[in-house]
Amino acid sequence: MQFGEEILRQAQLLGAITEEPGRLTRTYLTPQHREAGERIADWMRDAGMSAHFDALGNVVGRYESADAGAPVLLTGSHMDSVVDAGRYDGLFGVLSPIACVKSLHGRGVRLPYAFEVVAFGDEEGVRFGVSMIGSRALAGRFDYAALDRRDASGVSLREAIVAFGGDPQAIGSLARKRIAAYVESHIEQGPVLLNAGLPVGVVTSIAGGSRVRVHVEGLAGHAGTVPMHARRDALAAASEMVLAIERHCAERAETLVGTVGKLAVASGGAINVIPGIVDFTVDLRSGDDATRRQALNDVESCCRAIAERRGVNLAWDPFFELSAAPCDERLQAQWARSVAALGVDVRHLPSGAGHDAMEFAKIAPIAMLFVRCGNGGISHNPQETMTADDADLATRVFLHFLEHFDPRSVAA
Ligand code: GLV
Ligand code: MN
Ligand code: MN
Repeated sequence: MQFGEEILRQAQLLGAITEEPGRLTRTYLTPQHREAGERIADWMRDAGMSAHFDALGNVVGRYESADAGAPVLLTGSHMDSVVDAGRYDGLFGVLSPIACVKSLHGRGVRLPYAFEVVAFGDEEGVRFGVSMIGSRALAGRFDYAALDRRDASGVSLREAIVAFGGDPQAIGSLARKRIAAYVESHIEQGPVLLNAGLPVGVVTSIAGGSRVRVHVEGLAGHAGTVPMHARRDALAAASEMVLAIERHCAERAETLVGTVGKLAVASGGAINVIPGIVDFTVDLRSGDDATRRQALNDVESCCRAIAERRGVNLAWDPFFELSAAPCDERLQAQWARSVAALGVDVRHLPSGAGHDAMEFAKIAPIAMLFVRCGNGGISHNPQETMTADDADLATRVFLHFLEHFDPRSVAA
């Protein structure tokens, strides 16, 4: 096996770099981010690339073309994780192309384009509540208002960037002016390839998403004295809203998914106090932007009606939106040729998860390769798995892609 075992070994090493003993949680601009990034940069250099941390803590590796003026093919994925994560989400898309470069460099092969591999510092958005900070900056779409967002300890994104050694003033300079294309390899995070018995698949499009913070304010009171009919219980109201959102999405399950991933009673609540304040989040996704926007309006109306009936106040704050991103047909065809060249049946599938690739869709053709996810396709969970054989095959597909990609084939 050429690449698979080494990639899994590297993923295991990075998986041990965590903020929480016993489980993998690695968030943006932490010492663990730095440690993981330094290892990745070392592996990039060892593979024959230059590597550095940029102004936002992304690690950027570059394998030069023989031609100094050649266009750039960009790839990458994220090195941050969700809380209690698996070890392949994001990192596979960094480790696999580094292995490809090592092979190219070892054989003295230069490409007709400069190849850059980026390990993005933030994609999951765990620490500051906004996602894709790294890729958004490289795509020239950085949201400067996000610099004032604070983490759970009150540290602002701006302060954290400076403490990490980054430079908020230099964010604008990270925007890429001229990239030929952006491609990304990622664990599927679902069961489609597993059920089809296929190690890899070609992504057709990436679902868009909307995120909302919801604040419900009722009236705190004594759990023993306030009659049931007189209560303005914020948690009971929020619970009804959560179920209404679930029902709304379940009725449109072919085209829509919705999740309430966070819900908190103010100050943690107390057993003998009627909850007065509850905050929760909503995450809606669809491959069709019109469907998602309609759903956003519908669930808002539904939550407002529940709030009115229950006599609680509702603040509805949509704070993040990403349009669905179709993958470029020419690049899909190129991935398909590389998959077929390795003797694998070509399967196309959409992505329900968000990926750094989406950020680049407005400035360059994008495309993705998915790799089979074991354990029933579970991800955002420590039970996420990938076999060494699949890591190997997917990396050989990527290498074939790189050795056959012609930037002129996707020139506008
Ligand atoms: C990233 O993993 C996302 O889809 O939220
Ligand atoms: Mn993820
Ligand atoms: Mn990911």
